[in-house]
Order: sequence, then C-alpha cells, then structure tokens
Amino acid sequence: MKRPQVVESVSDLRSVVREWRRQGLSVAMVPTMGALHDGHVSLMRIALERADRCVVSIFVNPTQFAPTEDLDKYPRQLAADLDRLAEAGVQLAFTPTAAEMYPEGFDAKVVISGPSAGLETDFRPTFFEGVATVVAKLLLQVLPDCAIFGEKDYQQLCVVKKLCCDLDIPVEIIGAPTVRDTEGLAMSSRNAYLSPAELTVARQLNKILRQAAQALRLGANAQETLDKARRQVLEAGFGSVDYVEARASDTLAPWRRDRDGRILVAARLGATRLIDNVEVVRS
Ligand code: PAF
Repeated sequence: MKRPQVVESVSDLRSVVREWRRQGLSVAMVPTMGALHDGHVSLMRIALERADRCVVSIFVNPTQFAPTEDLDKYPRQLAADLDRLAEAGVQLAFTPTAAEMYPEGFDAKVVISGPSAGLETDFRPTFFEGVATVVAKLLLQVLPDCAIFGEKDYQQLCVVKKLCCDLDIPVEIIGAPTVRDTEGLAMSSRNAYLSPAELTVARQLNKILRQAAQALRLGANAQETLDKARRQVLEAGFGSVDYVEARASDTLAPWRRDRDGRILVAARLGATRLIDNVEVVRS
C-alpha cells in the first residue's frame, strides 16, 4: 500500500499538481474535514475512476462552525485518515493549517444565495458562507478537472455547483450517492458521537424518509406527508426536528409534483444533529 504524499502549503500543493499537469495527467479532488469513513472512501473511488490522480484535502474549516458548534470537539485523526487514503490509492493529501488557509488579514467571504436559502441556513446562518469560501479557495488552489461531493450533504452539493457556475470556476462538480450502513443510516463523521441506544434511533431516520418519498410519489398530499414524517421522527426518539421539507432537486426551490425532488431532514438526537435526504421520483 503506497502512502500518499502529504503537503501542508498551497505552494507545495500547486507544485505537485503542476508536475502532474506537465505529465498530461488528469486530476480529481475530494474536499473533506477528515475523520474519514466509508462514505469518503466511496468519493475517492469515484475520483480515481474519473481521473489519473486524486487530491484529498483534510481541513476542519473553522469558518463553517458557529461559536456554539462542535469545532473543538470535531474528530481529528490524521494518522488513521492517511491510512484510509493509502487503502483507496489516493496520491496526495493536502493538510493545511488554519493560518495557511486564513492568514492574518484575510477578508474574503463567498456568499451564494439561491440554494443556500432556508433549510440548514435557518439553523446555521453562517454555515454556507464558510463552506462556499473554503471550497472556492480549495478548488482554486488545486484547479482539478472534477471534484466529488457526497449527496448526503445535499444542500451543500447544490451550493457548490452554483458556486462554480456563478463564479466560472472550471471544475466539474460530481454528486456521489450516500453510503449507508446495513440499516440505512447515512455514514457521517458525527455518527461517532452516538451512543448504542441513539444509533438504534438514528437508523429510523432514513426509513421514515423513504416512506414519505414513496407516499409523495403515489400522490399523497405533500404537507400532510411531511407533517407525518416529522411526527414519526419524534416518535422514533429524536429530541427535536429542525426541518423536514420537500424541494426541487436542482435548484432547491419548493417542490412541485411534476419535478424531481428531494425530501431533506435535520433532526437532533441528544447532543448530535443528523441530516439526511432521499430522492422523490417524479410521478
Ligand atoms: O462536507 C465537508 O466535509 C465540508 O463541508 C467541506 C466541503 C470539506 C468544506 O469544509
């Protein structure tokens, strides 16, 4: 198993990528915050199917955490992450410090309206500003041919696509299917916070969403279906539900029956906030 090369500075990153380009190689990127799990590895596999070389960034981005959120607690496990990169055959890990990404005097902020509106933003008002800013920087630092993002963070995927479209960043953004455990729980670094009892409850979330998506496909009333799903999430044992909404899958505008859609949910279980989404096939 070959270990990936690890670089911490933008200039070292660029010189490796420049050399690959000189050799005529194509490049894919997978941006991450580390604590890598099977879901991330699936993104790396897609990257390496699409391109000759893969860069994975591992950076717990402080600007996407609100002061009340879990920045300090967020799992950090670089040695184990590098093992996963080696297993996946990734060639380069970019592990910048916060000072490398946000040096003294850094003033930029990237705001993408449209798909950022509502959902996560109602509960984490500055989250997508932080995501859009760091993703814009990462994509411009590497300028890969494509970058892979998981559909699990569906609103994030839509924001990143719009970011590249509106700012003419010449990178193809590829959405990758969510990887789930055998009972349907979406892989997430935050699952590490769940107790065994909470895990059992968390596993109900996707089942409830799938039933709701099926009901919508069969013509059930949208609001009643979403209200029922919200009740079921609470009955399953979640402490509260931030949102359960149906949106158009491309723009995230409110869903209409003649368009492909997604049901998106965020719910809290103890100290952990889980998100998930499922496709609503057009009827
Ligand atoms: O999804 C994530 O892990 C992060 O939001 C991302 C895209 C790496 C930006 O920090």
